[in-house]
Amino acid sequence: MTDSAGIPDDWRVERLAGALGAEVHGPDLAALDDAGFAAVRRLLLDHLVLFFPGQNLSVDDHVEFGRRFGPLEAHPNLKNPFTQHPELFELAATHGGVADEWHTDLTFREDPAVLSVLQLKKAPPVGGDTQWASLYAAYDELSEPMKALCDGLTALHDALPHNRPEQMAIHPVVRVHPETGRRALYVNEHFTRRLVELNATESEALLGYLTRWVANPRFTVRYRWQEGTVAIWDNRCTQHFVLNDFEGERIIQRVTVMGDHPEAASRSPWQPWVRPGRRSATSRHDRQLALFLRDRASGDRDAGSGG
Ligand SMILES: [Fe+2]
Repeated sequence: MTDSAGIPDDWRVERLAGALGAEVHGPDLAALDDAGFAAVRRLLLDHLVLFFPGQNLSVDDHVEFGRRFGPLEAHPNLKNPFTQHPELFELAATHGGVADEWHTDLTFREDPAVLSVLQLKKAPPVGGDTQWASLYAAYDELSEPMKALCDGLTALHDALPHNRPEQMAIHPVVRVHPETGRRALYVNEHFTRRLVELNATESEALLGYLTRWVANPRFTVRYRWQEGTVAIWDNRCTQHFVLNDFEGERIIQRVTVMGDHPEAASRSPWQPWVRPGRRSATSRHDRQLALFLRDRASGDRDAGSGG
């Protein structure tokens, strides 16, 4: 039996915060029928990040469950210690670092990941929580003038945090979710480098403001892990942040569903910023953007990336 939204009666869905996040008790993710899988998808669209305690998926079950959402991808800039499943990544804090800056995964790519399915394999005794932020809430609560400005902007993202600054993409600052039609504020402190239509100082001020705004605790949920818990997050409308406050080991396993192209609500009415006049000491602030635009003009990059 299911309720009117198609959620099985024997599942219990517990919201964890006002903006996003729900814990789901009841389903066995390794043995979901099609109706159960459709219910998971529906819950994900409603809550943006879902937690399923006590799953303890095998590597095979984890990969198979992830594939139901779409083709899986390997991480472009991480080496995979797992050999039998190239799509399943194991990330250990002691040899991979901790993602303690707010980010949406892989936004330096033209088609950033759609979603990830993560299982916590080893939890530290205390700390190591993860926070997620709703980019719908962050957009919805901007003032109307600020929404209007952001709706018309695009932003340059790059993989500088992975020591690969040449990996770049331009995305709309406000993207429209392809399934819900809702608008999400799509800039993050980790990968977003520059607002394309603004000069460098304007960009620094506004981008700094927007990336701090996203992290407002009102837009977030914070989750304390237990081993065997599976989380799924919609990477198109969220950011996340790992608290680097733990001692000892923290190990996750993750599969990532391949990306789609972020679409803007409307085409930007403005051209990319190009500095007038001669080069000067401050030209360096425009170098990364100029490099991207030059490459795009010469056909090295997808010309449609601005959205
Ligand atoms: Fe991440």
